[in-house]
Amino acid sequence: MPEEDEFVLVVNGEERTVRASADMPLLWALRQELGLSGVKFGCGAGLCGACTVHLDGSPVRSCLLPVGDVGSSKVTTLEGLQDDPLAEKLFDAWLEIDVMQCGYCQAGQIMTAHALLADNPKPSAGEVDAAMEGNICRCGTYPRIREAIRIASGQEKA
Ligand code: FES
Ligand code: FES
Repeated sequence: MPEEDEFVLVVNGEERTVRASADMPLLWALRQELGLSGVKFGCGAGLCGACTVHLDGSPVRSCLLPVGDVGSSKVTTLEGLQDDPLAEKLFDAWLEIDVMQCGYCQAGQIMTAHALLADNPKPSAGEVDAAMEGNICRCGTYPRIREAIRIASGQEKA
């Protein structure tokens, strides 16, 4: 049994204490210790994006990030975006064109899209493709995801 320590994480604006081994992926600390089920487990190997959260505003794969390496960085999960104006635009656009199919990948998709638009409010189609390419959707909702990002960014159809 690996040795456990106590870590104080800043999650969705609050300090939260978790007991875990330092090498536990942040994904499991968020899901199992803190009950934040918006973070999904997909591949566990950094390849699908289902586990995407923000670390100081940048998208990261929480399945690859050891909880012992998070330090004082601010972690944001989908739950932490509930009152966020940009997230509202994304949620509305997602609903407007019914992006979701099974829904499993979508929290990770929205976390990545949010980080993109926070950094680049009017991305080109190529910039959207580049930002989103690491987020896999087994249901193939890619065209609707890209359309929803275009709507959320307030851009006319090309
Ligand atoms: S579960 Fe983390 S990238 Fe797939
Ligand atoms: S909506 Fe099913 S995996 Fe993306």
